[in-house]
Amino acid sequence: MRRKLVVGNWKMNGSRVANADLLAELKAAGPWNADVAVCVPFPYIGEVALSLQGEAIAWGAQDCSAHASGAYTGEVAVPMLAEFGCRYVIVGHSERRALHGESDQIVAEKARIALAHKLVPIVCVGETLAEREGEQTDAVVKRQLSAVIHTLGHCISQVVVAYEPVWAIGTGRTATPDQAQAVHALLRKQLKAATERADDMKILYGGSVKADNAAQLFAEADIDGGLIGGASLKAADFAAVCRAAS
Ligand code: 13P
Repeated sequence: MRRKLVVGNWKMNGSRVANADLLAELKAAGPWNADVAVCVPFPYIGEVALSLQGEAIAWGAQDCSAHASGAYTGEVAVPMLAEFGCRYVIVGHSERRALHGESDQIVAEKARIALAHKLVPIVCVGETLAEREGEQTDAVVKRQLSAVIHTLGHCISQVVVAYEPVWAIGTGRTATPDQAQAVHALLRKQLKAATERADDMKILYGGSVKADNAAQLFAEADIDGGLIGGASLKAADFAAVCRAAS
């Protein structure tokens, strides 16, 4: 059986004081019988790394450059994240695709450079409400994942995939367990065509996951944990989601 993974995506939230409180509470609430990580804003990574050293909670970033170094003002390179012990980096979050124009190919390049430096990319895919209503969900997520499979080849087995329907992010409107499972099964089938190790890969669900819906979602056959936004900002809420995965 695949071990569950719960990742908090703090997005652009937090402060040094708030982070210290949140992490202290989380450390006291764990450990859990699941892998747990937090993906935090760049300026806090060093401090979070110090705080979580030796703990059962891993840490990571929310984005990275597609380049290893050079004249890319404002960007952060994967080797820099590696220096601070990041295990994960989220790539292709829908907020980056929508607000920063990230293409499927850029997302694939980011996943490639993350793997090259031994970070685990968490590759996000997901359809908008208009795409779901237009019955485009399957085509959209397949296209998004296919770009990454094409770029990584058999190394696709080393990524974590996160299905995050855009209409469920920050809206309080969660995909039903059936809706999510249907897409996860589709993604796993696509992965199976690319690697023999698809059954060992984790496919996370993200979009308004909370303490009261996590257990039902995580009970689905192909849902291997969650990528948690809002509920990762309060220790009690995040700890409850981690418990649901345990
Ligand atoms: P919410 O849990 O706030 O809906 O956010 C989900 C998400 O975007 C995680 O990456």
